[in-house]
Amino acid sequence: MLNKKSIEDIDVKGKRVLVRCDFNVPLDDQLNITDETRIDGALPTIKYLMENGAKVILCSHMGKPKGEPKPELSLAPVAKALSKKLGKDVIFAADNNVVGENAKKAVAEMKESDVVLLENTRYRAEETKNIPEFSQELASLADVFVNDAFGTAHRAHCSNVGVTDYIKTAVCGYLIQKEIEFLGNAVNNPVRPLVAVLGGSKVSSKISVINNLLEKVDTLIIGGGMAYTFMKALGREVGDSLLETDYISYAKEMMEKAEKKGVKLLIPVDTVVAKEFKNDAESKVVKGNIEEGWMGLDIGPETIKLFCDALKDAKTVVWNGPMGVFEMPNFAKGTNAIAKALADLDATTIIGGGDSVAAVNQAGLGDKMSHISTGGGASLEFLEGKDLPGIVALNDK
Ligand code: 3PG
Repeated sequence: MLNKKSIEDIDVKGKRVLVRCDFNVPLDDQLNITDETRIDGALPTIKYLMENGAKVILCSHMGKPKGEPKPELSLAPVAKALSKKLGKDVIFAADNNVVGENAKKAVAEMKESDVVLLENTRYRAEETKNIPEFSQELASLADVFVNDAFGTAHRAHCSNVGVTDYIKTAVCGYLIQKEIEFLGNAVNNPVRPLVAVLGGSKVSSKISVINNLLEKVDTLIIGGGMAYTFMKALGREVGDSLLETDYISYAKEMMEKAEKKGVKLLIPVDTVVAKEFKNDAESKVVKGNIEEGWMGLDIGPETIKLFCDALKDAKTVVWNGPMGVFEMPNFAKGTNAIAKALADLDATTIIGGGDSVAAVNQAGLGDKMSHISTGGGASLEFLEGKDLPGIVALNDK
């Protein structure tokens, strides 16, 4: 499916291999990593390279330090976690300019199967602007480039795109391969029926996803904050719920498009509304119009039934975005019910990044899904049908 060369298509023995990973992991106040999913996702590629005698030089961004060293966004905690997981000391090159004396010395001293981790690539202002100088510096460390940072594949930065101008052999790793296989098959070659479940707060951030998915799916389910704009487009009052008035006509257009294409488009028929945006706020279930002074925070029980019934025969499901304010237990029922419905299906289930991944994990159902994407923005852009620059830049097969 992915027509790009992979690590298995090239010889890595004895070579210095620069691997772009997405180690943008969440940290707590004590700088402990609170979710290691992205580190685990990178392990198959790193292990393959170690087993095949490469000198493995890892790089990644973390957060948005905006071109300056910020100690709280150092990749040092990642080096520690990796050392534990690989059972081998990962040498951390703590250079504020990323490719500095420490990195150069560490790389020069590497033996086969050694692993070095560079400092946060976004400590350099050039990184996000894709300025050649930094790409060249990164490239000077290595003979071969491997991109395995799916989560960053929608960005065109020095460390995932610019560097390929200076290192001729540029291939993908196992994580990118796996992500594209699942997401690509789901939207371009799905076992049908294909159902997409979209949620989250804003229609505006998912316009192109809705538009593109209407070309592909059999059923499109819309819940979460974005559903209120669709309800309004149907003439229902939404009270104090989230509403993007500029997108009401777009929502109408999408409903018309669905009808023309014969796609079933489902929106909530009832809503859990509350007086305030807090877990213990006074709440009730309403059908139809929502009065002033009340805001929708979750889908209601009839909607849960409607959505779960629509999922019953699905053979492929793509889910992006929660059905309600799942972080508050009183408004997490809709999101949890969808997670449970997906977990019980005999189907390929793909969870596309961000909040829906957190929701599935919070429900303890992560291991029941076929694929949990490590990409938030990247998986959305993929679902929009866009080419991802970090993948386009790699060598064709
Ligand atoms: C992500 O967390 O989605 C990726 O690591 C990309 O991060 P960014 O949105 O800061 O580019």
